[in-house]
Amino acid sequence: MSNKQFDVIVIGGGPGGYVAAIRAAQLGFNVACIDEWKNGKGGPALGGTCTNIGCIPSKALLQSSEHYEHAGHSFADHGIKVEGLTLDLDRMLARKDAVVKQNNDGIVYLFKKNKISFFHGRGSFVKAAEGGYEVKVAGAAEESITGKHVIVATGSNARPLPGAAFDEENILSNDGALRIGGVPKKLGLIGSGVIGLEMGSVWRRLGAEVTVLEALPTFLGAVDEQIAREAKKAFDKQGLKIELGVKVGEIKSGKKGVSIAYTDAKGGAQSLEVDKLIVSIGRVPNTTGLAADAVGLKLDERGAIVVDDECRTNLPNVWAIGDVVRGPMLAHKAEEEGVAVAERIAGQHGHVNFNTIPWVIYTSPEIAWVGQTEQQLKASGRAYKAGSFPFLANGRARALGDTTGMVKFVADATTDEILGVHMVGPMVSELISEAVVAMEFKASAEDIARICHAHPSLSEATKEAALAVDKRTLNF
Ligand code: FAD
Ligand code: NAI
Repeated sequence: MSNKQFDVIVIGGGPGGYVAAIRAAQLGFNVACIDEWKNGKGGPALGGTCTNIGCIPSKALLQSSEHYEHAGHSFADHGIKVEGLTLDLDRMLARKDAVVKQNNDGIVYLFKKNKISFFHGRGSFVKAAEGGYEVKVAGAAEESITGKHVIVATGSNARPLPGAAFDEENILSNDGALRIGGVPKKLGLIGSGVIGLEMGSVWRRLGAEVTVLEALPTFLGAVDEQIAREAKKAFDKQGLKIELGVKVGEIKSGKKGVSIAYTDAKGGAQSLEVDKLIVSIGRVPNTTGLAADAVGLKLDERGAIVVDDECRTNLPNVWAIGDVVRGPMLAHKAEEEGVAVAERIAGQHGHVNFNTIPWVIYTSPEIAWVGQTEQQLKASGRAYKAGSFPFLANGRARALGDTTGMVKFVADATTDEILGVHMVGPMVSELISEAVVAMEFKASAEDIARICHAHPSLSEATKEAALAVDKRTLNF
């Protein structure tokens, strides 16, 4: 058993871990990254949940299924006739797998470029040792390495419903949801959060009859109400059936599919019969096999590693980032924490601004936001002004053939500082960056209103919404 010594050991090679490893290597440290993910052939597959069964494959399928829907339903409006349109699901899934592999390979290349030592296997703490921490790697062979600093980035797993374990055949997590071999006639989803809406959209576009059962009485409670209402209207029109305020009861899975007993919002007993069921009710931090106890690493009641604002754990020189700690479970949040921790190890002032982390839901229309919602401002008693602008009045949106949605600003009533920007509509995943930059620089709504935006572009709706804060839109 070898015992190699590193400055920094990163456990987990998802977006948090692999980015932390690269930044630490850039800063001159001797870095190891341990990741246990296996591809279909048992080989390594760097990139974690995000690359393998999360952000990347879901966006690949969202894109493919959107093309299919456009070809079937909206090309005709543009004067393009499509006859004999058929779906080649095997090819669509194979393309998605190829996109995933490109990303896996890209990280291997980045590790080589940055001279990061990669260990394929499970990393677990052994003990605090001379010069840091001893970590065992259990892979094809077993070895032990020591690091002065350890960054834990072990991510999260899908949360199962009690009594309905994932079999990835009938009851699917996000993993199975991304590789259903044939379009189910009837698809059920539990949870109308981010995964429920994205995966529900994919399979609806491909032809499934989709029903989403949501426990909360409010649709997308974390989203600005006006935006959530607009999105719900669009999903209803598309035929995505979302039932709010339900209480899910017994789930039975058999050869014929899955039967879900539930109580509807009015208290009525209901049952839903589907071919496949996706359970998307949130994710739980993952510390399986990490042997946190061996070194006394503190976890909270949810199983998340306890960290301070700077990602320091209760142990000196042990850090934790990404989904395994508090905060939103987003790839870009994990990456920012990874960079900041590497910089703190180097004695620099790493920084993550939790107030300007953008959220995007990649449905059609897309939903994106940063900062506070109107309802949060009302609840906090802060005086604000709001302004919005519909894509219906935007020339580029008309040319695209997609005028759903709007851009909305909320700004401080006195100083005009932007406190939140909320969007629903075409390509708002890209438009939200302008709002993030503006908020990082503490811009006022007037600052955005005074900036020249290209015409015709969707970004003009952002400028107009900023003008609307001062009740002086030009095109509406
Ligand atoms: P992970 O990506 O989970 O990576 C952790 C890695 O550590 C894994 O490779 C795991 O195998 C490895 N590991 C765990 N324990 C050990 C151990 N003991 N030893 C060695 N290796 C170990 N976020 C977005 O921002 N945008 C999106 O569009 C988006 N889409 C998503 C879609 C889906 C379907 C899902 C499920 C998630 C999505 N997310 C998205 C969330 C995003 O995937 C996570 O926030 C992100 O992956 C967290 O990164 P991480 O590095 O903390 O953990
Ligand atoms: P989520 O937290 O977004 O949504 C879960 C939903 O399930 C909630 O609406 C909740 O009220 C509901 N729910 C919980 N228990 C329930 C029950 N027993 N019955 C019915 N409904 C119930 O979680 P989701 O969709 O699983 O995604 C997990 C996380 O992954 C997200 O929060 C996000 O952090 C990340 N993600 C991000 C994406 C993006 O950035 N585009 C895409 C997909 C996932």
